[in-house]
Amino acid sequence: MEQLPSFKRHRRLRSSDAMRAIVRENHLRTEDFIYPMFVIEGNNIKNEVPSMPGVFQVSLDLLKDEVKEVHQLGIKSVIFFGVPSEKDEVGSGAYVEDGMIQQATRLVKKEFPDMLVVADTCLCEYTSHGHCGVIHNHDVDNDESLTLLAKTAVSQAEAGADIIAPSNMMDGFVAVIRQALDRAGYQHVPIMSYAVKYASAFYGPFRDAADSTPQFGDRKTYQMDPANRVEALREAESDVQEGADFLIVKPAMSYLDIVRDVKNNFNLPVVAYNVSGEYSMVKAASLNGWINEKELVLEKLTAMKRAGADLIITYFAKDVAKWLSE
Ligand code: PBG
Repeated sequence: MEQLPSFKRHRRLRSSDAMRAIVRENHLRTEDFIYPMFVIEGNNIKNEVPSMPGVFQVSLDLLKDEVKEVHQLGIKSVIFFGVPSEKDEVGSGAYVEDGMIQQATRLVKKEFPDMLVVADTCLCEYTSHGHCGVIHNHDVDNDESLTLLAKTAVSQAEAGADIIAPSNMMDGFVAVIRQALDRAGYQHVPIMSYAVKYASAFYGPFRDAADSTPQFGDRKTYQMDPANRVEALREAESDVQEGADFLIVKPAMSYLDIVRDVKNNFNLPVVAYNVSGEYSMVKAASLNGWINEKELVLEKLTAMKRAGADLIITYFAKDVAKWLSE
């Protein structure tokens, strides 16, 4: 053969499974995952969400078995969303003592004390209009919503929630919740803030699962514009100043640049939320036989770690835990 110019031989480090394994930079671990669960009011209910095959709304009486399965797979944290049968203008169901999240939390902490319970702190599943706060003049009133959000967080902590995860995107929500938790004696309960949450079409299937579609308008006056990047840093910065302990970026897949920005700019654990629409797209393609689900899911979740995510909230958690133990 003719004399070749000199070049680097990158393929040397890809020559076998063992070789690839020793140079692998990022890894998935079962401990990285937080599994989302929908708790519905009623009895003996296990409804598959039509747009999310493999994801169920589960009533409290069946929840123990569901959580047992998650626990046995080695997943040590769950995040709860409540699906109440009655709603009102001010989302009372979010902060009553026997609310869905509060009851689910008590049950799980009793049965599985080592399971970390993350409580999603929002009003949209409990309001008749489906918005994340109180409505005045056709928009969500920031400061009035904060009061109810703080009440919700305290009642979740009272029920035993290990982590409070406010998702409603009102300005000042971390400051107000931190103050309320501290005053109620929950200084030790951390806040996992949905610091950077975009107004995204990827939440569609979740809104079927949680029955939380806004009855008028959209969430664009409080959730972020997907076109913006620097604004994400302003959002994260104020949550850090207000006392957040974790920062969530949501959605994940189309926002990995933001995950990396947040990771590089702040010294807190970063959580990527692999949202419902991201799950449904993969499931739909997989059910059609168009992609290899296992390979694709492992690839995209690893990409989230590579982008800087320390933790991942994902509906695929159970599948991945099984695959990782094979
Ligand atoms: C509540 C909330 C939403 C999600 C998590 N918490 C819906 C929304 O903001 O409309 C979406 C999660 C998902 O799509 O998987 N505010």
